[in-house]
Amino acid sequence: MQARKLGGTEICLPAIGLGCMGLSEFYGPPTDKATAIRLLHEAIELGVIHFDTAEIYGIRSANETLLGEAFAGKREHLFIATKFGPTRDWETGLRTGIDGSRKNCRCAVDGSLQRLRTDVIDLFYLHRVDPATPIEETVSAMGELVSEGKVRAIGLSEAAGDTIRRAAAIHPISAVQSEYSIFARDIEADVIPACLEVGASLTAYSPLGRGILSGRFMNESLDDGDWRKSNPRFRGDAYAANLALAKEIEALAQAKGCATAQIALAWVLAQGDHVLTIPGTTKLKNLKTNLDSYQVVLELNERDALNVLADLVKGERYDELGMATIYG
Ligand code: ATR
Repeated sequence: MQARKLGGTEICLPAIGLGCMGLSEFYGPPTDKATAIRLLHEAIELGVIHFDTAEIYGIRSANETLLGEAFAGKREHLFIATKFGPTRDWETGLRTGIDGSRKNCRCAVDGSLQRLRTDVIDLFYLHRVDPATPIEETVSAMGELVSEGKVRAIGLSEAAGDTIRRAAAIHPISAVQSEYSIFARDIEADVIPACLEVGASLTAYSPLGRGILSGRFMNESLDDGDWRKSNPRFRGDAYAANLALAKEIEALAQAKGCATAQIALAWVLAQGDHVLTIPGTTKLKNLKTNLDSYQVVLELNERDALNVLADLVKGERYDELGMATIYG
């Protein structure tokens, strides 16, 4: 286990947490409740402390509700992060926009606290920057929640470097959550320097490239209804090209005698002490593999070989609509 400090705080966290989104939505059908709760309990037993969720994960925020139920009586030593901002119509499930207003911030935190069955959220992120609300307004509202004791620390997700700096001028930003992996290094030019400047941790989500970096999709196809089927990196020629790149990572894993997913996570962990990561899984076996990534050390030449792959990846991180909400 590697412990890392959450930006600007004395809070120490294992570098690997658990991204909980996939238990409720997006990557195929939701995991049934008993199995999901069992996995969350097993994660705690294996030493996972940091659990990441969001208001928009699962119909009617089912993912937060799930965590609330799973963590009842176990909350004390856990670190729970959630996010607000994007809105959905819960009848259709469709996204309706992003609301970073003070009013929505206050309303969202109360909903999350209730569903998570807790009186404090350890890390409360703005999930996507609202172009219609100045970041100063959003962050000052989030800062009030810290003063009131509803939230311990605040963060931003998929924010641009300048937004991070403007936000940090209003209230300390403890973490910035962005997609970051061997296949997704676009934040290195703008976002990571801003994180280092303001002392925020970088929480790397989708460190396994949504699963492609585990090598599994060379032998496995995506279910109908899996959100990845509409992701540009998982479609057509781009998908074939990206799988060929994943094969190179698999070859390195075979040479080192470890799992392909562990190479992907070891690469993220090697980026520095400011990085935390939250790989998502619904399976105990994969969770154990991911936690064992702490043991995998990449040599400089191996990292150099991996470092060139992001430039060869085909397809954007999101479809057009999704791309419009990042670098906010
Ligand atoms: P996200 O942050 O969006 O959850 P990710 O962490 O990059 O994305 O990848 C999550 C995907 O990788 C999930 O589909 C997960 O599938 P399972 O729920 O079946 O585990 C898959 N995944 C996670 N760890 C894995 C591992 N060690 N081997 C194979 N697949 C893995």
